[in-house]
Amino acid sequence: MTFHNKVIVITGASSGIGKALALQMLQLGAKVALCARKADKLNDAFAKYTAETILLISADVSKEEDCKRFAEEVIEKWGTIDVLVNNAGISMRALFEDLDLNVLRELMDINFWGTVYMSKFCLPSILKSKGVIIGVSSIAGYRGLPARTGYSASKFAMQGFLESLRTEMLHTGVHVMWVSPGFTASNIRNTALSADGKAQKETPLEEGKLMSAEECAKRIIVAMSKRKRTLVMTIQGKMAVWFNKLFPSFVDNKVYNLFLNEPDSPLMKYENK
Ligand SMILES: NC(=O)c1ccc[n+]([C@@H]2O[C@H](COP(=O)([O-])OP(=O)(O)OC[C@H]3O[C@@H](n4cnc5c(N)ncnc54)[C@H](OP(=O)(O)O)[C@@H]3O)[C@@H](O)[C@H]2O)c1
Repeated sequence: MTFHNKVIVITGASSGIGKALALQMLQLGAKVALCARKADKLNDAFAKYTAETILLISADVSKEEDCKRFAEEVIEKWGTIDVLVNNAGISMRALFEDLDLNVLRELMDINFWGTVYMSKFCLPSILKSKGVIIGVSSIAGYRGLPARTGYSASKFAMQGFLESLRTEMLHTGVHVMWVSPGFTASNIRNTALSADGKAQKETPLEEGKLMSAEECAKRIIVAMSKRKRTLVMTIQGKMAVWFNKLFPSFVDNKVYNLFLNEPDSPLMKYENK
């Protein structure tokens, strides 16, 4: 699949992976329709592009009516949708014991329901174009991560939804896939929610040492153009997925220790008991 003149809808494109993906799609000659909640940040990121190739919409994917309006505006402007990238997402970091349940709901509303709403409203057009629906998932969608109950649950749910949809679409010409980046430098850990629902602000990782959002976007585009079923992006991710199938209790310990050793790990609470 080539992307020249194709209409690509990307959610959560004001930052990180979504922004990098949109910029690379523009370079490939695509028309891009992008959303995020904060309109200013989205407008600033794409200020130099004209309305011929770009549509910027302020929309919250956790709201069904925003997703419907976003899809309708794309159809009104360009008459078709070739690719939907469900990228908008947030993360969290807190023990379930301490977690305000509204945090878990918010994660599901954005990461899972956002994918469902956008897929629902873009699907009629994607059926006609025999296009692609893609979800930006995570290794957390294959392997539950401690202090990330809401994040893992939302990504497992996203993958289950997309796998069902892919199977339904098997003879329609629509391709459904998901990609699972490893740790990628972005804003996601700054905006990740704490137990009380406030952004944790500080990232516990050295972002400079992680894969760049540009490299991640490049790999997503290759996977999309080859219509891959899934893409697990890093060696660490591939090992986590396969070892988890074969030796799940071994992976429980490995994953626990990995997350225990991050700065200010919430798991320390259970170590000090
Ligand atoms: N970075 C990683 O290490 C990593 C690893 C695996 C998977 N991922 C996944 O990659 C995707 C992109 O994350 P990122 O790392 O690029 O994070 P990011 O830099 O924080 O970007 C997230 C984007 O999503 C938007 N967004 C958040 N909530 C939204 C909502 N309710 N409605 C519409 N837009 C919303 C944000 O803009 P507003 O805040 O203005 O809405 C922003 O544009 C996520 O699904 C994430 O789970 C990331």
